[in-house]
This record gives sequence, structure tokens and C-alpha cells, in this order.
Amino acid sequence: MRILITGGAGFIGQHLARRLDGAGHEVIALDLLHPQVHLTPDIAIAAFPGPVVVGDVTDETAWTSLEAPDAVVHLAAETGTGQSMYETERYQRVNVGGTALAGRAAGAWGVPLVALSSRAVYGEGRYACSEHGLTHGGSCCERAEPVASTEDDEHHPVSVYGETKSAGEAELTSVAGSVPVTVVRPQNVIGPGQSLHNPYTGVLAAFLAMLREHKPVTVYGNGTQTRDFVHVSDLAALLAWCLEHPADMPGPRVLNCGSGTRTTLLELAHQAAAGRPQDEQEPVEVVHREVHRAGDITHACADLRRLREIGAPLPRWSTADAVADFIAFSWDRPGAEAATWDAALDELARRGLTS
Ligand code: UD1
Repeated sequence: MRILITGGAGFIGQHLARRLDGAGHEVIALDLLHPQVHLTPDIAIAAFPGPVVVGDVTDETAWTSLEAPDAVVHLAAETGTGQSMYETERYQRVNVGGTALAGRAAGAWGVPLVALSSRAVYGEGRYACSEHGLTHGGSCCERAEPVASTEDDEHHPVSVYGETKSAGEAELTSVAGSVPVTVVRPQNVIGPGQSLHNPYTGVLAAFLAMLREHKPVTVYGNGTQTRDFVHVSDLAALLAWCLEHPADMPGPRVLNCGSGTRTTLLELAHQAAAGRPQDEQEPVEVVHREVHRAGDITHACADLRRLREIGAPLPRWSTADAVADFIAFSWDRPGAEAATWDAALDELARRGLTS
């Protein structure tokens, strides 16, 4: 197959492209090479195992100038939860408008589409309580326990990022009547190649920067918040499977992607520290900063039952191994200083987006 991957030069796209190339497919990327993500675009282009067309998924002519592929994987998106709270227009244009154009292009070409959404559509997700039963979008009282999110859960996004991912999914409903459409909702994706420069990306890159500078690891809040960290190669395996097993119509078929396990931020800090090279193994200090970023959720975990039911690949990496893999790969690679993450938090505070 000839597969068009939007955002193909990025972290997830490169993993997927190598996998598809290894399986004998042809890959082509449509990528803006955004400077917030790509400090060295030439290296990203060279790493991609096929042609990279530099173009913007929100520009209709970028799509119409392409030759019809056999399938489309739409990964291009704006991904920073905190940044989405003030760069609202950009997040809407790319994540909603770009996804609508991806759907339109796949429909016009008559080819299957696999689009990346996010677990952010669930927001705080479901909670179960012995007194109040199940609640959606937040907990009722202190007795409530978070429940892993299933694909049929209601959407309760609490960030602009989550709202744009939810609205992007809705843009694909009509085209899913004429071509196979799969929507994949990953949890927190980690692994080699993840951006170490972009302070709007995930907590693990922030922890790495702090550990490398022998600084305490800064946990926002008490550190009992949970996330589901999934290795990028598990996501790439699922996306490749979706291409090989197109969705039934009418769709879309919606699939979670995660490790299916919860890790607290405190556990993550210790797993990251354990992944340091042997000669850097001094005790790790964790400091707590009493801050809440607008758009942050408390708990997240994927329910993987649907993947099991349909025979889709299940995660092979445990979170601890995935964290160790990321740290080992990234330790000696250039990345932003820890202060860059402080600056991103200060920026949110200046805009009134922390409490
Ligand atoms: C992340 C992704 C998002 C993805 C989503 C899926 C980013 C920016 N966002 O959102 O694209 O769709 O997962 O679940 O990667 N924290 C600290 N110390 C720090 C930095 C962060 O304690 O130095 C905390 C945050 O307050 C938060 C948690 O770590 O509670 C995770 O934050 P982060 O990795 O930035 O992103 P998510 O909101 O999980």
C-alpha cells in the first residue's frame, strides 16, 4: 500500500513510518515541520523512510496537490494541553479544521482513514462510588474511585485541546459512511524520539531535563494523580493493524490505546530516576509545587476490552520498561533545559491559567 501520513515527520509518525516501511509499504509524509517541534527539520526529513511533502493540513491545496494514496493516517495536530488554553484559534484550526480536510480528502480518494484523537476527549472520565454510583466527567465525593475509560464513555473535555479533539472526531462522522474510518485515542505516549525541546509536551520530558541537571523533580500537586503511559511502538503497532484491518462501515470505529495501567506522578518520577545511567544514581529529590494548570485532569487510564474483543494488538511494553527505554535513549541527546518548563508554567500563570 502507499500510505499518506500527516505529521509523519513527528515522533509518532516516524515510528509508524519505519514499521510500515519494514512491512513493505510505501510511505509519504505531509508535514509542516513546525519549529516548536522540529529544531532540525533536515534530520527529520532524512529519518523518514519516504518523501516528505512540506505542507499544512489546514490548507486545502496541500491535500488536492497530492496524488491519491491507498490509505491516510492523520496524525498532524497541536498537542499541548496547557498551550491550547490560550492559543485557542490555532488549536481549533489545526485539530478541527485539519481533521475535517483529512476526512474530506480520504472520502474524495475513496480510501480508508485512520485518525489520531486523544484520551483528552474523556476529560476527568468516569468515577465509581459505593454511595452515589457512577458519575461522568468528575468525582462525586472522596469515596469515588476513577474507572478506566471505555470508548463509549461520554465526552467531557476540560481543555481546549480535548474539545478540539472531540470536535475533530465529530468531523469524521459523515465520511465514515462512505470510507472505513478508525479513530484512535491514545493515552500519554512516550518513547525514543519524543521531543526534548518542546516545553508544551509531556511530563516525562520535563522530569528527564530536571534529572540531567541534578535538580529535584517538580511534581505539580501531591503526585497521586495518575496517567496511563504507553510506549510509542505499541501505538504504532495498533495504527498499522488498523490499516491492515479497515473498519466496518458505517463508522467510525473508535479504539483506545494505552498500557491499561495507572502510574502516579510520584511513581513516574522514581521510574524515571531508576532509568538514569549507573554512575548518575544519586537519590532523587521530589519537590511538590502547589499549582494546578487549567485543563489538567486528575486521573487517566484506558480500558482495553474493545481491543481484546476485536483481536487488535495489545500493549507489549510495561510502563516501567517504556519509561526506562525513553530515559536510556534520551539521556545523552540534546534537549531543552529544565528552566524551559518553569518558563512555560510561568507563562500559564501570567495568563491566569494556573490556580
Ligand atoms: C498529555 C499530552 C496530550 C495527550 C494526553 C493524553 C502533552 C502536553 N499532552 O496530556 O497531547 O493527548 O496526554 O492523555 O503531552 N506535571 C508535573 N510536573 C511537570 C510537568 C507536568 O507534575 O514538570 C504534571 C501535570 O500537572 C499533569 C501531569 O504531569 O498532572 C501530566 O502532564 P502532561 O504530561 O503535561 O500532559 P497531559 O495533560 O497528561
